[in-house]
Amino acid sequence: MIRTRRETLGRHILYRADCARVLKRLPSKSVDVVITSPPYNLGLAYRSYKDRLSEEDYLAWMEGVCAQISRVMRDDGSFFLNIAGSSSQPWLPFELMVRLRRLFTLQNHISWIKSVAVGDVTYGHFKPVNSPRFVNRNHEHVFHLTKNGDVPVERLQAGVPFTDKSNITRRQHAADRRCRGDTWFIPYETVRSRKGKFSHPGTFPRALPERCLQLHGFDGDSVVLDPFMGTGTTLLAAEKLGLQGIGIEADTSYVRVARERLRAMLAENGV
Ligand SMILES: C[S@@+](CC[C@H](N)C(=O)[O-])C[C@H]1O[C@@H](n2cnc3c(N)ncnc32)[C@H](O)[C@@H]1O
Repeated sequence: MIRTRRETLGRHILYRADCARVLKRLPSKSVDVVITSPPYNLGLAYRSYKDRLSEEDYLAWMEGVCAQISRVMRDDGSFFLNIAGSSSQPWLPFELMVRLRRLFTLQNHISWIKSVAVGDVTYGHFKPVNSPRFVNRNHEHVFHLTKNGDVPVERLQAGVPFTDKSNITRRQHAADRRCRGDTWFIPYETVRSRKGKFSHPGTFPRALPERCLQLHGFDGDSVVLDPFMGTGTTLLAAEKLGLQGIGIEADTSYVRVARERLRAMLAENGV
């Protein structure tokens, strides 16, 4: 069993722990936004976690963790769950969503597009699949789960300016901003230096949790939780927007990376 270790960095709390244990101890209705990417059960080479449970064990485990997430979330909170299937387990994300119906309403289903071809030009990066049967998987799911499906979202804050500016006056919009919709093109950042590389097999770019936070909306008191923190990307997004982050990660090395990344950002911000 992993011994729980808690530390604070700036306004953030980092736990090296099994998230199921920490979640049980967090107060009910104390978190505004949960953003997380759990292990996908694809056999990824994490340092310590074995990413290959039976499908039933995986679903039961995730359902238990998500029940605790529902308990710690405020009634008007949002849970952004990033997950993807694979060619060998294409149903898994959907099976999980069906299990979570008793806990949450699926308010929005966003596709995180990692790479896209527009005409003959491609943008972004993806891991190529060499197969006569399957096409490359260029997107992942971001399921926006809420308790009752009635949480107002900040469509314009997470939105885009109009391309055709004549729409602003013609359709009487208050600002040069429209909803961006449910396809989010967020490429991985290209890492060129050794310093910028950290050894973790499954991170998301900081722009993803940032966009989730913009969509949910926030104020200076908002609390953001990532129970599968990995290298701390969600906490970096929270710091960038001036919010409090709570991160839980079972692997000591990944907590170290999260700590270093957060420290570097705090130093940049003069904290
Ligand atoms: C997909 S990764 C998250 C990556 C993260 N979004 C980032 O950008 O770095 C999932 C993480 O969950 C961690 N993990 C697995 N089981 C855990 C548990 N029971 N409690 C806490 N963390 C766990 C793994 O070590 C892994 O780092």
